[in-house]
Amino acid sequence: TGAFTYDPGFTSTAACESGLTFIDGDEGILLHRGYPIDQLAEKSNFIEVCHLLLHGELPTAAQYEKFERNITMHTMLHAQFDRFFEGFRRDAHPMAIMVGTVGALSAFYHDSLDINDPTQRYISAIRLIAKMPTIAARAFKYHIGQPFVSPRNDLNYAENFLRMCFAVPAEDYEVNPVLARAMDRIFILHADHEQNASTSTVRLAGSSGANPFACIAAGIACLWGPSHGGANEEALNMLKEIGTPENIPDFINGVKNRERRLMGFGHRVYKNYDPRAKVMQQSAKEVLAEVGDPNDPLLQVAQELERIALHDEYFIERKLYPNVDFYSGITLSAMGFPTTMFTVLFALARTVGWISQWQEMMEDPSQKIGRPRQLYTGPTRRDYVPISQRG
Ligand code: CMC
Repeated sequence: TGAFTYDPGFTSTAACESGLTFIDGDEGILLHRGYPIDQLAEKSNFIEVCHLLLHGELPTAAQYEKFERNITMHTMLHAQFDRFFEGFRRDAHPMAIMVGTVGALSAFYHDSLDINDPTQRYISAIRLIAKMPTIAARAFKYHIGQPFVSPRNDLNYAENFLRMCFAVPAEDYEVNPVLARAMDRIFILHADHEQNASTSTVRLAGSSGANPFACIAAGIACLWGPSHGGANEEALNMLKEIGTPENIPDFINGVKNRERRLMGFGHRVYKNYDPRAKVMQQSAKEVLAEVGDPNDPLLQVAQELERIALHDEYFIERKLYPNVDFYSGITLSAMGFPTTMFTVLFALARTVGWISQWQEMMEDPSQKIGRPRQLYTGPTRRDYVPISQRG
């Protein structure tokens, strides 16, 4: 009963008003607070983009300095946090560690947090942006069995993160500026993407008044799935499995026979080239020229796969184009990250989007607890039958 609109997957339901991110999927346009993603990826940096998303404007020089200082002040984890990492099996998937440990931040900051106070909400946002690289790097080091490297606040956000991931005690570590720039760009490209599944999860969790650390942990859980953030891991595994361009036609036939999906392709909103994929493809080439093989077989497979798919009736009819995850795996892999870390990096970067959306929701006077309805399909009313009389 009830006259509800049936909209599985929310393909045509706007659940909120938002001033953060605009997407025109038909034209392949993505703007953050009005600024095109390609301009931000080219000219800006991740800290500026965080300020833009969280505050609504690009920072002045003085605001930038203050904002960056504020973030670096919060990069450390409480010493007791070690226990959470040590509780995991040594081969735990880093995403499992992320869901658990980010949720555990609630236990460190929740009790003193009044989410109705804008200042305290803001400090939570800063804490999350600041601590995510530390937690992600720590999950990585734990996963590969190396000692943890503490944050260095004199480095920028991407440099510090790369150092925490790749520095080894007793060995010198110089951050490669090309890789740091590529890392920063990957963070920018993943910073926000309006009401995708994980962001909607964060908003839904937050609509009940839950604390922001728990809400972000919910977002990470949702991001993990292969249809969403987990696609970057799956996309690289797929490219490796295809191996060489000669195997592409067979693979494409399998996709068309619905045996599997072409990972890193297709998008709910983009029915055109994902503008993030264009930047990502360029970044992949730059990183491979620096540290890998510019003729990397996986890049060749990816480019050939893209060429064939974009000329194939199946993909043309359905308007399936490469998305952000198609080329990111090649880049991250060349940088030295195992596939298990790919979605973690996505979560790290998306945290600013999630928390900015949470903050926006908390400031919105029309905000209500999220409560979808359903079309009931079960039995009508019936009387209880004792077990001895059930046939
Ligand atoms: N490979 C093959 N066929 C596809 C693909 C694909 N990657 N994506 C969609 N289709 C087909 C689908 O089978 C359907 O065909 P038909 O109408 O004949 O049944 C049609 O295209 C529409 O697909 P849909 O599943 O109704 O579309 P959706 O909007 O529900 O799904 C998606 C969007 C991203 C889940 C989907 O395109 C997909 O599974 N892609 C692969 C996974 C992926 O790369 N995800 C990352 C998305 S971007 C980053 C992020 O969000 O985290």
